[in-house]
Amino acid sequence: MYYNECMESAKQQTVLLGVTGSIAAYKACELVRLYQRSGFKVKVIMTQRAQELVGAATFRGLTRQPVALDLFDDPRNPINHISLAQEADALVIAPCTANVLNKIANGVADDLLTTTALANEAPLLLAPAMNVAMLKNSITQKSLKALASAGVTIVGPESGYLACGTEDSGRMSSPEDICLATVGMLLRAKSLSGKRILITAGPTREHLDPVRYLSSPSSGKTGFALAQEAVARGADVVLISGPTHLTCPLGVEYVPVTSAEEMLQKASKHFDGVDIAIFSAAVSDFRPAEQHKHKLKKRTTPAPIQENQNSLSFFKSQEQDRIERKQPSLSEIKLVENPDILATLAARRREFQSGKPYIVGFAAETENVLANAQAKLISKDADLIIANDVSDPLIGFASESNRAIFVESLGHESTELMSKQMLAGVILDRIATTLSIKNLT
Ligand code: PMT
Repeated sequence: MYYNECMESAKQQTVLLGVTGSIAAYKACELVRLYQRSGFKVKVIMTQRAQELVGAATFRGLTRQPVALDLFDDPRNPINHISLAQEADALVIAPCTANVLNKIANGVADDLLTTTALANEAPLLLAPAMNVAMLKNSITQKSLKALASAGVTIVGPESGYLACGTEDSGRMSSPEDICLATVGMLLRAKSLSGKRILITAGPTREHLDPVRYLSSPSSGKTGFALAQEAVARGADVVLISGPTHLTCPLGVEYVPVTSAEEMLQKASKHFDGVDIAIFSAAVSDFRPAEQHKHKLKKRTTPAPIQENQNSLSFFKSQEQDRIERKQPSLSEIKLVENPDILATLAARRREFQSGKPYIVGFAAETENVLANAQAKLISKDADLIIANDVSDPLIGFASESNRAIFVESLGHESTELMSKQMLAGVILDRIATTLSIKNLT
């Protein structure tokens, strides 16, 4: 369904095609034709080096549009890069040289194409083409990782015959693959448009006193990555997060909270009317029964010195001090159970006629990962549980990457190890597909 919708909407969409100075620049001519056949309007920006390999007149003829060559080449438009960026529904750079790729990854903007890329807010696709040593260079690899983590679609490069005469990786993907990937990218960009999504993230803090609390090592990365990906797919996102050091992604409504009770209260307020609710927060299951206004004292406090007193009696006994302060002893601190936010709101869903929202929970497990996640799917009444083995330091809490098992009533499926940003994309693609199938049935 999305594919047809996307092909239909391609008719009104503009692909801004950046062509850089690689020998593969001639293949960009074929790419223009493929975009046009798919229904896109194409505009071309060429770097100076690209013009030494293919003439601007070729692209002018193919697109029947002026080709943008320089920051100041349009006398009617003194801020060419901004209007080009605003016009684009997708920015595609094919071929993308190592130079341009590394510049974009580092925010360098020193010509028309790189300034446009920096100003661009539309989905960005890069099709790298370069010598294998340049590709394997750790700087290029770092740039590729950073770009992928920022949600940029990277297509290829592939292995094959390279301009330098060797057979190795670095060859630009075929124009057919790049065109298909562009359609897929736009498909994803719209897959959640019109949907309102609630996401819980991070840890909660359950204070015992102003300086001590119960919590978990959650960094919030998973929930924030989900929020960023959801906005990129056109969703309207509210992110309710416990304390983290992360910056809320642009375009997301941010609701910071501290405790589980506060998280429940805010999630409850935003729950009605959302289409999708994702509970990725690591909520503390317990909190101290009593929260003390002042810091609990660990040591005895000095008592007034009496005459003939020896140095040992300078301090009150710990027990006497504790009783006077009406403090609990550490071994006496009582815990009470926190509300289960997911289960509470899933129960509320039963009252809604719409059957909405689609509910996704996580399961942080250290053993029997699949069985425990399957039990949580039922006990919490979720539609999908994303289970992760948090005993593995490479994945789970505060790590950069994760590997998950998607658990649904009809079965389960494991993912590869990938960055949390990529996993967020995979999760949202799966949710979008499930919802589109539900809409059809
Ligand atoms: O934030 P990061 O550093 O990126 O780490 C990611 C993560 C490990 C926190 C994430 O991948 C994860 O597993 N989140 C869920 C952690 C958790 O609390 O799991 P759980 O198995 O205890 O809870 C199951 C589900 O119930 C979760 O969706 C949880 O949000 C929800 N829950 C649990 C307890 C509670 N009181 N209220 C809840 O809503």
